[in-house]
Amino acid sequence: MERYTSTLLEDVRLIHQAMPGIDFDEVSTEVEVFKKKLNAPIIITGMSGGPEEAGKLNDILSRAVEELGLGMGVGSQRVAVEHPEVRHTFEIVRKNAPHALLLANIGAPQVEKGYGLKQFQEIVQMIEADAIAVHFNAAQEVFQPEGEPAYNISILEKLRDIQKDLGVPIIIKETGSGISLETAQLMNRYGFKYFDVSGQGGTSWIVMEMIRDKRRGLWKAKSAENFADWGLPTAASIVEVRYAVPDAFIIGSGGIRNGLDAAKAIALGANIAGFALPALRNAFAGYEKLLEFLKMTMFEIKAAMFLTGSRNIAEFKQRPVLIFGRLKEWMEEREISLSAFNRVRTGKI
Ligand SMILES: Cc1cc2nc3c(=O)[nH]c(=O)nc-3n(C[C@H](O)[C@H](O)[C@H](O)COP(=O)(O)O)c2cc1C
Repeated sequence: MERYTSTLLEDVRLIHQAMPGIDFDEVSTEVEVFKKKLNAPIIITGMSGGPEEAGKLNDILSRAVEELGLGMGVGSQRVAVEHPEVRHTFEIVRKNAPHALLLANIGAPQVEKGYGLKQFQEIVQMIEADAIAVHFNAAQEVFQPEGEPAYNISILEKLRDIQKDLGVPIIIKETGSGISLETAQLMNRYGFKYFDVSGQGGTSWIVMEMIRDKRRGLWKAKSAENFADWGLPTAASIVEVRYAVPDAFIIGSGGIRNGLDAAKAIALGANIAGFALPALRNAFAGYEKLLEFLKMTMFEIKAAMFLTGSRNIAEFKQRPVLIFGRLKEWMEEREISLSAFNRVRTGKI
């Protein structure tokens, strides 16, 4: 089989309108997410790191999202629960961004290991989060030498109980391998309808683990290499989750690298788009570079909306979307008919 590690967003085309019928300035990219207004439908998704670098990253990213009216997630807060002395590296985010949409973050395996309502509340309060992303990283855990691939179904029962009293929504988040139709349906049966698909085609934790395993001379490196194209491409994952749970809130992420990628993800069925690595890279280049990248991304989303004749996101989501090539084949193999999908995508079911 041909190996591919692509988002498959290249198989998605929007229809250009030579006469958009509107002025560029009329186009509004605003959306409301978890009661927060975003100036554009994009967020920076959570990234962890050593306390010092994560602190610096959180500082720069949060200043940028506050300035531009965007949102962001932080990386796993496990380290701050277990080492309260590093809490400030997360708390800085809300200090810098009093108005921004902020998402807390913790790994699903932590729930199996005993994290309950108390820890979740602590994590949410740490950054006064608007929602919490619970990341499911089974593929990473299985290739990590020190990984703990513990994914018993009891996690979902516990999460359901936590959700009852938490007060903010739980987002089911992948970390680069995508969420399938079956997983979305399963999650929905447990009452969850917020997803961050984080599909394949961008940062791959399997590849990251492969590199780490190789450096340590571990045979698992070879296994990780064999699984390098494992997962659902981001476009396929957006289609699957939207089809499985028509009223889901979907963050389309994994390999989103510019505003056109983001626009395609949204037209295809995501509510907003998210990216991690490009934000990290631009943040390393400095605050001004990061702002420039985010402004460019915002502009490109607006350009795609303008050129399809869309005044706002609701109109944009009604526009035709063409699906070619491997994404089309993927849908055929999964018995998702284009016409049925289009009805779900445009809310006509
Ligand atoms: C350096 C780095 C650290 C990350 N740490 C986390 C984390 O702690 N929690 C999480 O849910 N996802 C984490 N992710 C995954 C991202 O949120 C995102 O799902 C993934 O990188 C795919 O998006 P991308 O292709 O735009 O990078 C991390 C990604 C990177 C690059």
